[in-house]
Amino acid sequence: MELKNLIARGDNIEVYECDGKAVKVFNDKKLKEKCLYEALTQARVETTLVNSSLKMPTVQEVSVLPDGRWAITMDLIKGKTMDELIKENPSKADLYVDKLVEIQMELHSQYMPLLSKLKDKLARQIKSLGTIDEIKKYELLTRLDSMPKHIKLCHGNLAPQNIIINDEGTFVLDWVTARQGNASADVGRTYLVLCMNYPEIAERYLNKFCNESGTSKRYVQAWLPIVAAAQLVRNIPSEKDFLMRWIDVVDYE
Ligand SMILES: Nc1ncnc2c1ncn2[C@@H]1O[C@H](COP(=O)(O)OP(=O)(O)O)[C@@H](O)[C@H]1O
Ligand SMILES: [Mg+2]
Repeated sequence: MELKNLIARGDNIEVYECDGKAVKVFNDKKLKEKCLYEALTQARVETTLVNSSLKMPTVQEVSVLPDGRWAITMDLIKGKTMDELIKENPSKADLYVDKLVEIQMELHSQYMPLLSKLKDKLARQIKSLGTIDEIKKYELLTRLDSMPKHIKLCHGNLAPQNIIINDEGTFVLDWVTARQGNASADVGRTYLVLCMNYPEIAERYLNKFCNESGTSKRYVQAWLPIVAAAQLVRNIPSEKDFLMRWIDVVDYE
């Protein structure tokens, strides 16, 4: 496998085009577990999305490169990400927001009892935080515990970078964070990502989701301190102040 044509680079990964396929390479041998977990999660979601109008790259192979790094080979999805399209056509950003909501609601219409639970992951992340005090952690965990359990397909990181729209359809990528869970938690997470990266469209996104799904805005907002705290585990210095402010908001007006 000759990895020459780099398509994208993420925190711990590189994605190459190779022999008409996409190869997602994990940068360190120690990321074996992450690679295998991502491949399994992606394969599980595939079994559900066959019944959906949405598409995704299917896993073709999991392998170890000669240098010991782990890699997932999957379908190569041609075309631009929604992130690139928004940046190229800022005047059409509202249309892409509406599309994002449509995609997310279609995902939430799928049930995924096979995946791990989003609530368990959020609780684990909050418990592991060293940056907030024990009282705050207790408040967040109590709030999380009181939230309704659902088994909807939650992508966990649905954002414009993880969507490619081309002539063959709408493709959703990057399934490592997918879980079964509550749609409003998933929406809270997307809203948070939008507030940090595309602040000009974040409010439209939240309003659109709430209107289309008949969900009260306060209900999504009740998840925000929880998803903000969970995001702190990534330890990204530029996000810290923003997330800490969200954690402290108890009730939104
Ligand atoms: N199967 C694929 N086909 C085409 N491009 C892909 C594919 N998988 C990933 N990419 C590109 O690589 C980028 C990073 O991959 P992704 O799986 O989202 O990793 P990360 O976890 O770093 O966000 C994507 O935003 C997309 O541009
Ligand atoms: Mg991604």
